[in-house]
Amino acid sequence: MTISVFGIGYVGCVSLGCLAADGYDVIGVDTNSAKIDLINSGIPTVLEKGIDEKINYGVSEKKIIATDDFKYAVRNSEISVICVGTPLDRDGALNLSHVFTVAKQIGAALKSKKEFHIVSVRSSVPPGTISQIGNIIAAESKRISGKDFSVLANPEFLREGNAVNDYYNPPYTLIGGNDKMAMSKLAEIYSSVNGEVIFSDIKNAELIKFVNNSFHALKVSFTNEAANICSKLGIDANEFMELFVKDTKLNISSEYMKPGFAYGGSCLPKDLSALKNIASSNKVTAPIIDSISISNESIINKAFELIINTGKKDIGFIGITFKDGTDDVRNSPYVSLAKKLLDKRYSVKIFDSRINLENLTGANKEYLFKELPVISDYLLHSYRELLSESEVIIVNSYELVKKSELMKIKNKIIVDLIFADESLKSKENYIGLYA
Ligand SMILES: NC(=O)c1ccc[n+]([C@@H]2O[C@H](COP(=O)([O-])OP(=O)(O)OC[C@H]3O[C@@H](n4cnc5c(N)ncnc54)[C@H](O)[C@@H]3O)[C@@H](O)[C@H]2O)c1
Repeated sequence: MTISVFGIGYVGCVSLGCLAADGYDVIGVDTNSAKIDLINSGIPTVLEKGIDEKINYGVSEKKIIATDDFKYAVRNSEISVICVGTPLDRDGALNLSHVFTVAKQIGAALKSKKEFHIVSVRSSVPPGTISQIGNIIAAESKRISGKDFSVLANPEFLREGNAVNDYYNPPYTLIGGNDKMAMSKLAEIYSSVNGEVIFSDIKNAELIKFVNNSFHALKVSFTNEAANICSKLGIDANEFMELFVKDTKLNISSEYMKPGFAYGGSCLPKDLSALKNIASSNKVTAPIIDSISISNESIINKAFELIINTGKKDIGFIGITFKDGTDDVRNSPYVSLAKKLLDKRYSVKIFDSRINLENLTGANKEYLFKELPVISDYLLHSYRELLSESEVIIVNSYELVKKSELMKIKNKIIVDLIFADESLKSKENYIGLYA
């Protein structure tokens, strides 16, 4: 199989070398004649461990050629891989002009090509771009997307400095599209790449790089804030972070990473506030740590907006504790939400069989009565009572009421704040926090 690679910079050059080493014939296309000459002389365009021998082998075995003739490249290949740059514009948005130029070129070349063609977009492009590329190619070629060609999102996860190793060992190979045949065919070119191949929706595959890299940036900056605090306290920051990452149960894991409502409870808000205080009292600037609670508050505000936008006044809460499996209401974000609604003169009713006002003691009781002084007026004894007294049902728990009961709800608006059940989404009048 022959594959054309548009853009022979970091991503494209590594793809050229690795695809040739894996047995494919590859045509590199670039607008930069110096890069074309380098490749055709068997020299990589980038400095990367292990790429020299691959490019050299590919050129000497006539498996790699480079050219600026895009029509030749498209007509003589079954798959075109787009690896051109997507630099930032002045306003912070991505400049997609190179990607769109290549789309036009591929479209122009496809005009006179009968065979089906696959376009794999390895450049990092924002959601919606794959569809735009498809439209450009269709307009230029007068061919039909899905019938004559298919455009797939295929993000690249390599890191410079370790690019060849990363090419063969990505976290996974992700192919976003809606053409199963084309997706399977593209997956074949990665048969010597380790790890799982995941087929996804196009927008997932478009967005993932930006969320990944923002998370990596967050990790770097969060670590540096923690290190600044350590150094002020005379703690060895390296030793400390080694300890931190050793916790692969709660710290470096998928725990706490399921979309849901705001955090609360007796530990996270208190200890976060304590850390902010340790930082500020030691004159350490920690903008990420300082802003976590602002982000959390914005989720409570978002839920508040969703509820007031229903236009209804009688609001019923299923669950008020800060999470399932506990009767702890301290710093419960649901209590904050109920309080916000009460302050705006909404009628709030609560069903939570885990809370027994007579048995409640200590700080838990103190908190609840401080935040909702007449809680006994709002707390109902049964789910049925809650249903009959509410126009909007806020779902904060799936342990208090069976899913089958929720599915039976009629003529009420359901606001699901924990996003725990897909089947609820199909219900009429369903509003999910992230739906
Ligand atoms: N560099 C990385 O570590 C990395 C990792 C993953 C993803 N990415 C993404 O991959 C894409 C490419 O990144 P890169 O670092 O390889 O960029 P790069 O700047 O090194 O290479 C881009 C190449 O595209 C060429 N080009 C521009 N317009 C062209 C056209 N019309 N036809 C053919 N070639 C053209 C340029 O001359 C250049 O050689 C970007 O979207 C980037 O965000 C980069």
